[in-house]
Amino acid sequence: MSNRTFTMIKPDAMKNGHAGAILDRIIKEGFRIVALKQTKLSAEKAGEFYAVHKERPFYGELVSFMSSGIIIAAILEKENAVASFRKLIGATNPAQAEEGTIRKLFATSLGENAVHGSDSDENAAIEGSFFFSGLEQF
Ligand code: CMP
Repeated sequence: MSNRTFTMIKPDAMKNGHAGAILDRIIKEGFRIVALKQTKLSAEKAGEFYAVHKERPFYGELVSFMSSGIIIAAILEKENAVASFRKLIGATNPAQAEEGTIRKLFATSLGENAVHGSDSDENAAIEGSFFFSGLEQF
């Protein structure tokens, strides 16, 4: 079990002014910020990041949304990070997310769901390295 995960604060949450509150919550829940940057994905880069979803009906919408505005990308560290962070953010669909979770509090819809959280240790490492060089992951 790895102690790191990867997250993005998505364009909806950035535009709605929730970035500060989300980062504050992440830190208060005991995650250490290993690396963090604000950036904007091109459609090409967003397509590459979400390549696993290429065959899904929502792929085009997902790519266009994720390249529609500024995001924050970060690598986080905590014991059992992947599972612990997924519990903190709640279900993919905010309508089904538990009370108090980040998506329940800040997400707009299933597609515009405020934050990303890696779904496995393997993907956490791949996704973190998509945004950060080895030198930045200390
Ligand atoms: P995330 O877990 O960050 O990565 C895949 C994303 O696809 C997911 O968040 C949702 O934002 C999005 N997604 C999943 N299912 C749907 C859907 N049915 N329609 C639109 N977007 C979706």
